[in-house]
Amino acid sequence: MPTEKPKPRILSGMRPTGKMHLGNYVGALENWVKLQGEYENFHLIADYHALTTNLETTELLHNTLEMVMDWLAVGIDPRHSPIFRQSQIKEHAELHLLFSMLITTARLERNPTLKEQVRDLNMENIVYGHLGYPVLQAADILLYKGQVVPVGEDQAPHVEITREIARKFNQTYGDVFPVPVAKLTEFARLPGLDGNKMSKSVGNTILLTDPEIEIQNKIRKAVTDPQKIRMGDPGRPEICLVYTYHQKFNADQTDEIFDGCTSGQLGCVACKKRCGNAIAAHTGPFLERRRSYESQPHLVMDILLDGERRARQVAQDTMNQVRQVMRLG
Ligand code: TRP
Repeated sequence: MPTEKPKPRILSGMRPTGKMHLGNYVGALENWVKLQGEYENFHLIADYHALTTNLETTELLHNTLEMVMDWLAVGIDPRHSPIFRQSQIKEHAELHLLFSMLITTARLERNPTLKEQVRDLNMENIVYGHLGYPVLQAADILLYKGQVVPVGEDQAPHVEITREIARKFNQTYGDVFPVPVAKLTEFARLPGLDGNKMSKSVGNTILLTDPEIEIQNKIRKAVTDPQKIRMGDPGRPEICLVYTYHQKFNADQTDEIFDGCTSGQLGCVACKKRCGNAIAAHTGPFLERRRSYESQPHLVMDILLDGERRARQVAQDTMNQVRQVMRLG
């Protein structure tokens, strides 16, 4: 009997930020869904990581469930790809501790993603766990022997640290871990409605759950080329946010829109309407699927529990190997 070749394994993760927006979709989810057939995907909810910047836990489960419903709505198939919370699998904490001996604090202080965060969030001081953020991420990836890690550019330094830790462990104790590679998303950063990075904390998002009328309202207020004031004025699509959205969600019409905008024949009002239509056409089916999950909250919890059971098994196997090569117990 022909046996199926094992698929390479992907470990993808996200912090539980609640409802997903178009930036999450373009930067990560769309890619995860596409990769599902080719790889064996493990989808991690980084609820421990969420604590590095917010100690408040009252919304954690709610935000997790909101996020998972969006993952399911865009087409993550939980039968093939386990979805699980980091906090429900103790091996993450255990491997994180062992990994924390394999990297220096100086190396972690050089992490550019951390520096950027400290600057953006205006942090005076960071907690010990925040410095170790990439070490926990290394445990997330390597517990499942993830070979490929689909991430946005900002996370590439963390995958680099994971690679260093994997090599250091293998050299010190024996070959247990693959050295994973980052798979960067093509359209890594979708700008938000104000032109900055789309982000929940900035409030410049279009949500996957926004109904069409809301999408249209939001797009209507989006910033465009400030030199294009009335119809007839030629515009500069290359600096226009709405044009970026067209490129992503309305690829078939971008040439025509480019010509219409630069010649002045296409006004911003009409252009935005078409953009809103294209986005709504894309997210409409998600909305429908999401409603079916919303009406069955137990089903979503069951999907998580099942994913956690499957993920735990893999994590325990890996930890057994780790303990064995380390001669622990
Ligand atoms: N650090 C990632 C982020 O903020 C989330 C994350 C945690 C992750 N563990 C991971 C991503 C493992 C990929 C693999 O987006």
